[in-house]
Amino acid sequence: MKIRCYMFVALAYLVSPVLSAADNPKFNVPFKLGLGQSLYEEKCSTCHGIWGDGSDKGPPLMHKLYLPSHHGDQSFYRAAMKGVQAHHWPFGDMPPVPGMTMRTMDKILPYVRWLQRENGIY
Ligand code: HEC
Repeated sequence: MKIRCYMFVALAYLVSPVLSAADNPKFNVPFKLGLGQSLYEEKCSTCHGIWGDGSDKGPPLMHKLYLPSHHGDQSFYRAAMKGVQAHHWPFGDMPPVPGMTMRTMDKILPYVRWLQRENGIY
């Protein structure tokens, strides 16, 4: 009986929904977005989370607020190059990202949009 019980707990653990996107193997990043992904991880993930799911330093980009209809591509370029004054969240200002260029953002943005779609938010 006891063994069964443990097995049930182990099974429940295995099939329970994965809470952190970082451990979620469902994100099979297409090869052509690989560069964008690694640039995102280098430049943005410390604050916005490894899968864009947020951290204690910045909001999740996987949020309806950051859909193209609310925050168009321009606001991503502006944020990365010039920084953002805190207005939606309690994390403080986003500083301009050091070493950012338009071309770096050209790579990062399609990856972020793809990830938003993968997360089913649009
Ligand atoms: C040092 C932490 C930090 C880093 C690094 C960072 N961000 Fe941010 N970002 C923030 C915070 C904090 C906010 C929320 C500001 C607010 O309250 O609205 C934000 C907001 C944004 C917004 C919303 C802009 C708006 O107009 O409201 C976008 C888009 C964004 N970040 C993209 C990026 C991208 C892309 C990168 C990497 C190139 C990046 N961020 C790197 C902290 C960071």
